[in-house]
Amino acid sequence: MSENKRASFGGKLSVILVAAGSAIGLGALWRFPYIAGKHGGAAFLLVFLMSVFVVGIPAMLAEFAVGRKTRQNAVGAFRSLSKKWSWLGYNGVVGALLISGYYYLIAGWSLEYFVKSITGSIYSSSLPFKQQFELFQDSWRPLLYGVLFILMTHVIVSRGVEKGIEKASKIMMPALFVILLVMAVRVAFMPGAADGYRFFLSCDFGEAFKIDTIMMAVGQAFFSLSVGMGCMVTYASYFKKDNNLASTAFNVSVLTLLVSILAGLVIFPAVFSAGLEPAEGPSLVFVTLPEIFNGMPLAAMWSAVFFLLVVLASLTSTISFHEVLTAYFAEEFKLSRTAGAAITTAISILLSTLTFFSLFGIDFFDLFDKITANYLMPLGGMFACIFAVWYMKRGFMKNELTNGGTVNRFLSGVFIFMLRYITPLLIFYIFIKNIAG
Ligand code: PHE
Repeated sequence: MSENKRASFGGKLSVILVAAGSAIGLGALWRFPYIAGKHGGAAFLLVFLMSVFVVGIPAMLAEFAVGRKTRQNAVGAFRSLSKKWSWLGYNGVVGALLISGYYYLIAGWSLEYFVKSITGSIYSSSLPFKQQFELFQDSWRPLLYGVLFILMTHVIVSRGVEKGIEKASKIMMPALFVILLVMAVRVAFMPGAADGYRFFLSCDFGEAFKIDTIMMAVGQAFFSLSVGMGCMVTYASYFKKDNNLASTAFNVSVLTLLVSILAGLVIFPAVFSAGLEPAEGPSLVFVTLPEIFNGMPLAAMWSAVFFLLVVLASLTSTISFHEVLTAYFAEEFKLSRTAGAAITTAISILLSTLTFFSLFGIDFFDLFDKITANYLMPLGGMFACIFAVWYMKRGFMKNELTNGGTVNRFLSGVFIFMLRYITPLLIFYIFIKNIAG
């Protein structure tokens, strides 16, 4: 597609909201609380914060630069800069496929909880919330809702980047903030909430220095920022030339951190107040949150609003990895956008079904999650950094970060230093250390 015909996102705020829409999703609202719950609460938060700044933001900048410069899908982008590096684009396509294999199913859980809140059935049932969740898991409904989620994503992606993706993010992201704030205030008044704050905010440094915690935190940073699998390459291909990459990356990351922390401030007090375990695992959000609403007036209404929000936040994320695949199929195989989207949707349904039935006795859910967050994305991010500052000519990153010498002239030096000497080495070190046990 020629440069001037390709769609682009609108102004500065749209770009931030769209990229934040990709970043903020189940990673912040569902994955962060349950992983922090398993890895020492505040200790995990601390390492996660550091990971976002030291590895997440620089890697995001490398991806932004490659995407905006080339204005192509992930594979086309790397290939057009160097034939030898197109594999890094494929790393993104594989990552998007693996994430599609389980993300829609969990997003589907929130859709089910939204519907059940509207009908009020969660709160009228005499069964404990945990048991309700297990019954739901044993039925065929998660697959049904997962497929429904894929179809919703399909509709938005096929409408294109401006009408579909940009519009959706602009409404959904601000709504999410407001609701989380209201819930954080509400939960503070629940009995026993103080134990939750203690868990989430007082740090056990012993836990923070465990290699396992560090590895999980780095994985969470990549997953939550949607970095290391071509997603930000694809999105940046729709950025305008005068977009300030550093400030976009910074804003997106801070927003993602804020939502993660808010999610923790909502969930942990509720967990302790309800006498549940913070290390409950993937069901954490779905078992604890109904406890908060249960004691409130208009329980079903609040619950519906909250789960709607989880649905919307997840939707702006599913859109983004669907877009990685849609742009790849459409541009690399010279198909229409609609055809690219249709292929992506069909594959996503197939993969989700596979995961749902856990075929061949393999727990695909856990496998896909671990492979992407702990391996594929950190390594993808590491190589994106190496590519941008070691393989590409010296001026490439500088030019992109400063928009040809007009902005961020000092800051670009700092980022380039990190990209060269700190970020990739750190990822590599953590990796080796983790493998060595
Ligand atoms: N960042 C998204 C989330 O936290 C997930 C995601 C990962 C989206 C990779 C796109 C690419 O929910």
